[in-house]
Amino acid sequence: MNYRHAFHAGNFADVFKHALLVRLLLYLGRKDAPFRIVDTHAGEGAYDLSGDEAERTGEWRGGIGRLAELSGATEPAAALLKPYLECVGPFVGGRPLLYPGSPLISQRLMRAKDRAIFCELRPDAFDALARRFARDKRVKAINLDGYTGVGAFVPPVERRGLVLIDPPFERVDEFQALLDSFLTAYRKWPTGTYALWYPVKDPAQVRAFIEGIRRSEARRALRLELSIGGSGDRLNRTGLIVVNPPYVFEDESREIGAYLAQRLAQGQGAELLIETLTGE
Ligand SMILES: C[S@@+](CC[C@H](N)C(=O)[O-])C[C@H]1O[C@@H](n2cnc3c(N)ncnc32)[C@H](O)[C@@H]1O
Repeated sequence: MNYRHAFHAGNFADVFKHALLVRLLLYLGRKDAPFRIVDTHAGEGAYDLSGDEAERTGEWRGGIGRLAELSGATEPAAALLKPYLECVGPFVGGRPLLYPGSPLISQRLMRAKDRAIFCELRPDAFDALARRFARDKRVKAINLDGYTGVGAFVPPVERRGLVLIDPPFERVDEFQALLDSFLTAYRKWPTGTYALWYPVKDPAQVRAFIEGIRRSEARRALRLELSIGGSGDRLNRTGLIVVNPPYVFEDESREIGAYLAQRLAQGQGAELLIETLTGE
């Protein structure tokens, strides 16, 4: 396990994933009944973008670094991104004081009655995660393989909520593990909302994964991909599958994604793709 998210925190892929995650959590918070979040690959929880790792790659500069001001955003895109930027918090000199990972975003949008389970396998990342949330009784951080965790933690007692599966894509079989863990969880909890993150590096692997979702029993599955264009020597395309999205989510994602494709573009070919894989 060499992957450390600190090198990539706040990059274009994080911005896309986290901006959409915020919309999903806000929707869950609209109803009175409590919800639960299961974050299978939680990471450290939050990242210091002035730290060594973030400085070494500078990836955040092409992501959250471009959103200190929402220049050129239409009114709907700016309004939809505002809660994400509130989760990110203050910028100093064009850099967020602290970049929130998915656990901190979740914590910021949970109410007193909501609960979260964060799994992280890497011991040092887990220690940071556990320390950060030690005093929050709503949150349980567990040093566990998230692929095992997801099958064990659904359905939650609340019967409402979100499963985020956001693996590091280090294993050669990571797409298969992602698909299998989703299928297992979905069979046990078909009414949950699921967000599955993936990088687009190997188109054949992505195609096989997408076909796996298409052939699944998922009642409604959306594929959302953002490309920032450019030469492609670095990752420049990323995707999120959202199963059982709230009904407003597709329209909201279109606004957010179209803005990010333009604002985060690195060159020719920047685009947003939204495709319905199952359902209407
Ligand atoms: C892409 S990062 C997660 C980022 C996080 N979800 C966020 O949005 O801030 C993937 C994390 O998964 C951890 N990891 C790797 N294999 C794992 C496994 N089998 N189960 C749980 N965590 C794992 C890595 O150490 C890394 O911190």
